[in-house]
Amino acid sequence: MPASRDPKSSSPKRLVLFVEDGGGDWHARQLVAAFEQRGAEVVTTTLKACAFDTSCPYGLDIPGFDQQLPDAAFVRAISTGSLEQITFRLGILHALRESGVMVWNDARTIERCVDKSTATFLFQKAGLPVPTTRVIEGHARANKEAHQIDRPLVVKPLFGSQGNGVMRADTAADLPPPDTVGDVYYLQHYLRDDKADTFADIRVFVCNGQVLAAMSRQGAYWVTNVHQGGKPAPLTLSDEMAQLALAACRAVGANYAGVDLIQDPTSGQLLVLEINSNPAWKGLHSVSDVDIAAALADGFLASLKEMD
Ligand SMILES: Nc1ncnc2c1ncn2[C@@H]1O[C@H](COP(=O)(O)OP(=O)(O)O)[C@@H](O)[C@H]1O
Ligand SMILES: [Mg+2]
Repeated sequence: MPASRDPKSSSPKRLVLFVEDGGGDWHARQLVAAFEQRGAEVVTTTLKACAFDTSCPYGLDIPGFDQQLPDAAFVRAISTGSLEQITFRLGILHALRESGVMVWNDARTIERCVDKSTATFLFQKAGLPVPTTRVIEGHARANKEAHQIDRPLVVKPLFGSQGNGVMRADTAADLPPPDTVGDVYYLQHYLRDDKADTFADIRVFVCNGQVLAAMSRQGAYWVTNVHQGGKPAPLTLSDEMAQLALAACRAVGANYAGVDLIQDPTSGQLLVLEINSNPAWKGLHSVSDVDIAAALADGFLASLKEMD
């Protein structure tokens, strides 16, 4: 019988922070400082460095825990990898949860968010307004689809982030080749006014069922991610924006997330564009007074306390 974990057994709390392969970034350092200021011990490591090991009492070997389990895990990054590597790393997160360890965000949530088609499906299922989207396998099918749709489409990699690989297809000839999208075509109506010369969308940062901060991202290029040159700008959050972001988090079971909203230029309606279960907050930090790392640490530790 594998050992089961007693959540009350250790104090102070010993946390694991999973960071990018190659080391923690500015966000990870902020989180470590915030957790330590609140009396927690943090071991920073990567999911890559963990092991499933039948000779360990809990079947897991997490660096820095001497074959014991952490009290909780915060996932800053999974890192890119082969299908096997990602499956292994998510497997470690699933295993931690199965062992009674609180994990933010849980592997199930990460899976729902990383796969843009599943996230879109869950938003729609929750009754949230989403852009018209169809996700299909095979270049020939995508080609047929694009021929039938009499308007520009946005094509996104199923697992993309930071605007990488997000492209516009005005005709079927603009569709990317199969190998660049794993032969899965996430096709979405293009929601920009062609006469506009600046573009914007909205990023809302949510933790523990509360909006921490929000910003508008603006740029001359229609893909407004900060990574693509979009500039963060302060935003007065409306109740509608807040409710959409909170509902999007509930739809995927996210403890914390960055939710992207976009306005349909024709109807003016706000739509839930996507959700990021490992969001950065450096851009938001530049236009908001809120200490995001401190708020994340507070939310995480409060949630952990509730589990005791
Ligand atoms: N359907 C769309 N119409 C117009 N602009 C879009 C659309 N989808 C995405 N964009 C732009 O591209 C950006 C990146 O798309 P998003 O779905 O958030 O993917 P990523 O995970 O790469 O951030 C958005 O922030 C927005 O600026
Ligand atoms: Mg985005």
